[in-house]
Amino acid sequence: MTKGANSCSDIEIMTQQGERSFGIVVLAAGLGKRMRSPLPKVLHEIAGKPLLFHILNQIRESDSHASIALVVGNGREKVESYVRSEKLFQDLKISFVVQSEQLGTGHAAKCAMESEWGNQFSGAQNSVLILPGDQPLIPSELIHQMRFPLSKSEAARLLTCERPEPAGYGRIVRRGAGGPVIRIVEDRDATEKQKQIREVSTSIYLFRGDFLRASLKRLSNNNAQKEYYLTDLIEAATRARKKVGVLKWKNQEDLLGINDPWELAQAGKILNERLLKAWALKGVTLIDPQMVYIEPSVVLHPPLVLHPGVHLRGETEIGTGAVIGPNVVLKNVVIGQHVQLQTGTVATDSQIGDHANVGPYAHLRPGSSVGTHSKIGNFVELKKTTIGSQTSVAHLSYLGDAEVGKKVNIGCGFVTCNFDGRVIEGQRKHKTIIEDEVFMGSDCQTIAPVKIGKGAYIASGSTITEDVEPGAFSIARARQVNKLGYAKRLKNSE
Ligand code: UD1
Ligand code: CA
Repeated sequence: MTKGANSCSDIEIMTQQGERSFGIVVLAAGLGKRMRSPLPKVLHEIAGKPLLFHILNQIRESDSHASIALVVGNGREKVESYVRSEKLFQDLKISFVVQSEQLGTGHAAKCAMESEWGNQFSGAQNSVLILPGDQPLIPSELIHQMRFPLSKSEAARLLTCERPEPAGYGRIVRRGAGGPVIRIVEDRDATEKQKQIREVSTSIYLFRGDFLRASLKRLSNNNAQKEYYLTDLIEAATRARKKVGVLKWKNQEDLLGINDPWELAQAGKILNERLLKAWALKGVTLIDPQMVYIEPSVVLHPPLVLHPGVHLRGETEIGTGAVIGPNVVLKNVVIGQHVQLQTGTVATDSQIGDHANVGPYAHLRPGSSVGTHSKIGNFVELKKTTIGSQTSVAHLSYLGDAEVGKKVNIGCGFVTCNFDGRVIEGQRKHKTIIEDEVFMGSDCQTIAPVKIGKGAYIASGSTITEDVEPGAFSIARARQVNKLGYAKRLKNSE
């Protein structure tokens, strides 16, 4: 394996060294050509998180102290900076190992084993679990079962599964049906007869450290893809008359490998369905589970109802008794109890208090907060705006950079004119304060910065440019003039 000898290096140990006996290698350096995208394959997302998140998170759940070598190469800076930025992984012991040329899965594993990290796990007393970075549905239970110690006579344990459509996967060749595994044949190297085999390789193995390191050195790339195949280590073990244990995994969905955008979509769908099923069993009513999208970071407090077309993303949390209507999209929104969100409401980085009723077609932009028992009606947009409790903004309004108190009534068609093109004390947008119990007639505007005092009454059609004192009545529109008989003159004017 001389060609790749200089194409890998150890770059940095992210945290302190892990336990000595057991290490995990995650392969994440591949080119991912079949994705047809400039983004590294392992950074493509399902359920709002990169593929790599899902596998590292399952490792974390099975053992947060495991020592992990993450093999990076293609798009390495992006992959590394993602892993470093992910809050959940701050305490994981991850060493980045660089595979500078992508010469195959065997070469990637070799880079790991010949790195400073690999030196700790190359003895007969060590075992190394290898996981692919492109199989996001691997459950932590599988990792747990794979790491049971190898028996004395075993050099490796191989995880396999049956696939009704095995095309694309390496096939498990056994000596006679149900006999011991002899080798793995890659799809492109398989004979027509071998292509009929439905038991496939999953890219998940546990190796004895000394065997792994020694046999990776001897790998050749004499195959259809001119790559160093990790799968060839099984034949190497058979040749050396060493035993290979097999763990056959029942649920083939858990082992779906992502090689192209269609497989990415399939995995996303499966994960979504798993999350929805878990919530349904906890008491969430789904009117049509095919039509709801939910991310793993979302927290629900059932019973509550989700209608078709609902998207729940990021750190969204929804309280008991909520009814989330059709086509509602929420990202990082915290919702209290017994809230009604009606059709087409979109909210981001906002809060909605208990018993509030929002929508249809309301838009809560970042920094908005709706108080308890309040009503935000159709075609109302809020941005960086706080609405107090029992307040109503029922129709066709825009409130930006506003603080609205309790028991306020805002009529139809109200606009806070928060930007007038001027910059005051470094601020481009200006604040509107509307105190408790104000009555704002329909079709009013307030030119910010401005303050309407408690209990004030603003006449319909007013454009308010000056502060209004508490309890005052304010009217700011031209007086009406009626000219008798004048209409006829205008109509006949040509
Ligand atoms: C691999 C297996 C195949 C198995 C399938 C299961 C080999 C030769 N084949 O095929 O038997 O059925 O997984 O999903 O191992 N990678 C690197 N460096 C490289 C090449 C790949 O880090 O030089 C990484 C990739 O980023 C990926 C993983 O290894 O995460 C698997 O590589 P991929 O090219 O997807 O292998 P498959 O063709 O799927
Ligand atoms: Ca793959």
